[in-house]
Amino acid sequence: MSDITFTMVKPTAVANGHAGAILAKITEGGFRISAMKMLRLSIAEAEAFYAVHKDRPFFGELTQFMSSGPIVAAVLEKENAVEDYRKLIGATNPAEAAEGTIRKQFATSIGENAVHGSDSNDNAEIEAGFFFGFKDMF
Ligand code: CMP
Repeated sequence: MSDITFTMVKPTAVANGHAGAILAKITEGGFRISAMKMLRLSIAEAEAFYAVHKDRPFFGELTQFMSSGPIVAAVLEKENAVEDYRKLIGATNPAEAAEGTIRKQFATSIGENAVHGSDSNDNAEIEAGFFFGFKDMF
């Protein structure tokens, strides 16, 4: 089996109608969607998902934003998925994201940066497991 990574299309990108275009870029980039759902996180769920950032000054802003509206959560499969997906989405801050990346095209700020992508294989497994059970991944 190929590697996996985990992504979320964030609330502003979903609200602005960009989820379809972002998913198209993901599949055109060679990723297979092995699980996907649309949902709204509670504050407590956003705090649990981003617990690693709990001491950062932007934690409150981040968790408020991520629970402000529906997101699309998905597990993506591809060889070298974590690294290749981070290349496809671009830098966390859209001002620094390369041309052609998802964040360059769809992000509006470092907080509202269109998509999340796992930063390691271990975190991809943990993050996928936060949203999906074994039977939800195909
Ligand atoms: P994400 O890949 O979802 O992982 C953590 C998120 O924290 C990151 O994307 C950004 O959206 C957010 N973030 C990181 N730095 C800042 C910051 N300085 N101000 C607001 N949000 C931030």
